Amino acid sequence: MSVPSTQKQWVITSGDKGFDGLQSQEAEVPKLGDHDVLVKLHAASLNYRDLAIAKGIYPFPLDLPKVAASDGAGEVVDVGPRVTLFKKGDKVVTLFNQGHQYGELRPDTVGTALGGMLEGTLRPYGAFHETGLVKAPANLNHVEASTLSCAALTSWNALYGLKQLKPGEWVVVQGTGGVSLFALQFAKAAGAKVIATTSSAKKAETLKKLGADHVINYREDPNWGETARKLTANGAGADHIIEVGGEHTMSQSLKAVKFGGVITLIGFLGGAKPKDNILEALNNICTLRGIFVGSREQMEDMCRAIEANDIHPVVDEKVFPFEQAREAYEYMWAQKHFGKLCISIV
Ligand SMILES: NC(=O)c1ccc[n+]([C@@H]2O[C@H](COP(=O)([O-])OP(=O)(O)OC[C@H]3O[C@@H](n4cnc5c(N)ncnc54)[C@H](OP(=O)(O)O)[C@@H]3O)[C@@H](O)[C@H]2O)c1
Repeated sequence: MSVPSTQKQWVITSGDKGFDGLQSQEAEVPKLGDHDVLVKLHAASLNYRDLAIAKGIYPFPLDLPKVAASDGAGEVVDVGPRVTLFKKGDKVVTLFNQGHQYGELRPDTVGTALGGMLEGTLRPYGAFHETGLVKAPANLNHVEASTLSCAALTSWNALYGLKQLKPGEWVVVQGTGGVSLFALQFAKAAGAKVIATTSSAKKAETLKKLGADHVINYREDPNWGETARKLTANGAGADHIIEVGGEHTMSQSLKAVKFGGVITLIGFLGGAKPKDNILEALNNICTLRGIFVGSREQMEDMCRAIEANDIHPVVDEKVFPFEQAREAYEYMWAQKHFGKLCISIV
């Protein structure tokens, strides 16, 4: 494959122009350092973070302008002279925090996220340090594999990063966003029981098809945390709660959790100022754990699990062409998506 010298790429130019700040710019295809891998990116997927960065509401440090998006999948087309982990033709996925190799995040690795601190994936060719990539699961196509960098790895870290999920344990997942659907799929593959919440009767049916043991409509049942607890074995509560709602869901999560359970604080879809007394965690003798995606070691474990269990990510029926990246942002902002929203890069 002959690699062009220049390419069109989508750049987040600033966080104060909304999606107008996402601009298509001509740039050079990056040159390879000794340990770099050149990837022909075939697909990218969007996360709420990408929209928040464009809208200027992302609460963590950024270094704009940067090529947008963190999640991407493609094929290795060239490698630097000292690369040992990959060869031409390998199918790969990007690691969200490029510096997070294993163990806990550290102050020096927290600032290595693609699409905000480092150049992202909305471009046909990208050069990444070899330790910033992971082999894609063989059962996935590029579009499916492009969904793994952020949402999937975050769910995996929630379920396996502190207290490993065991068969028969109970997991609560909130809503039908990317993170929650991955958590549902991983939990079912592990033999766990899943209680899912959603605001939509139609989505409830899909959640059941994906294996949810119980579905609660959080609009119809605002006290869904209590309901969820009653559904668990002996009404003892859930071992793991995937907390993505923030302000609107925390008090219910504290009602649903088991003694010794873990509430993983992941998102703030309903606002970022929980009104609850955090000391409720003491009453429930549970752990509240904030996480920021996961490490390369965890991503390799996750990819093995995806392949072994033939898990296929839930991808929205609409996959946007590269030229319509801005329309993809608008579509996701309007919450028209179900599961992961992907962009194909030819
Ligand atoms: N900490 C990390 O490392 C990390 C990593 C990835 C994502 N996140 C964060 O996690 C959150 C979820 O990300 P995502 O990619 O899964 O988002 P997403 O795909 O945009 O999720 C959208 C879905 O969330 C549900 N939802 C919205 N408001 C809700 C509420 N108040 N209570 C319960 N569910 C609600 C809705 O489900 P229904 O339509 O079914 O009601 C909606 O369809 C975001 O805040 C994101 O920034 C954090």
